[in-house]
Amino acid sequence: MTRHLLADDDLSPAEQAEVLALAAELKASPYAAKPLAGPLTVALVFDRPTLRTQVSFTAGIAELGGNPMTVDGGLAAMGSRESVEDVARVLGRQASAIVWRTAHQADLATMAARAGVPVVNALTDDFHPCQLLADLMTVAERRGALAGTRVVFVGDGSCNMGNSWVLAGATAGMHVVVASPDGYAPHEQVLERARAIADSTGGSVAVTTDPRAAAAGAEVVVTDTWISMGREQEAAEREQLFAPYALTSDLLAHADPGAVVLHCLPAYRGKEISAEVLEGPQSAVWDEAENRRHAQKAVLTWLLEQDRDPS
Ligand code: NVA
Repeated sequence: MTRHLLADDDLSPAEQAEVLALAAELKASPYAAKPLAGPLTVALVFDRPTLRTQVSFTAGIAELGGNPMTVDGGLAAMGSRESVEDVARVLGRQASAIVWRTAHQADLATMAARAGVPVVNALTDDFHPCQLLADLMTVAERRGALAGTRVVFVGDGSCNMGNSWVLAGATAGMHVVVASPDGYAPHEQVLERARAIADSTGGSVAVTTDPRAAAAGAEVVVTDTWISMGREQEAAEREQLFAPYALTSDLLAHADPGAVVLHCLPAYRGKEISAEVLEGPQSAVWDEAENRRHAQKAVLTWLLEQDRDPS
């Protein structure tokens, strides 16, 4: 059966652990797996700005022996000149997998339904599962076992990173608290999915409006931009609303002294995170950015193996 990574809970707890273990192996030995040797092509389609995602997939696919084929979503004019269904069937006949950054989760699901090859979410408005695999890998490197680890996400919990953290964190058996202003918690339906997963993994998911209480004792402190792609018109109002949720040294002082700081980047120093925290000794953001490549190589390898060996 063709498997996809459209949202974080497309991987079961055991599968997530398998992918993370493979990511660690591939980091230690970058050319150990060559599932794309041939070389096979992977389509990288971007409808939205990208830096880390494009470079880490391009480098990672090359390391897997494959050929990364970047498609400019603007030139393809999907949704206007070409329907998503038609693009899916065309790309699926040229590429062994499709990686797509786009706004709407429903379009990604359509792509997956029609492509006939694995489809990977390279960020939508709702989820950023590739980033979460890199984040979990980074936490595991710094702190060891993921299960039972206390995580606080401060800021815009309603963005892709907030949603993905509750789902992926629950899958890993972590205790995830999201601190955001009223109306900016992760989506209710996503919280329900995450809580159901947490029930089986021993993790937990909570939301609050109090960043200090949420940060108390946290072992991982995460934030993200307050102005996600597509929200640029709301910048002034968001900067005011989210100001009490800035990840500063003062907030970090409430966390565990060995807490790891994560930010998926791009970071806006003096807004959602202070320069002092971003560049400080607890920050793991550059490892986190590097780990995108290792984690994505692992997920592509894993998805292609499922395609070939459905057992
Ligand atoms: N929440 C951010 C993540 C950027 C990688 C955005 O959607 O712009």
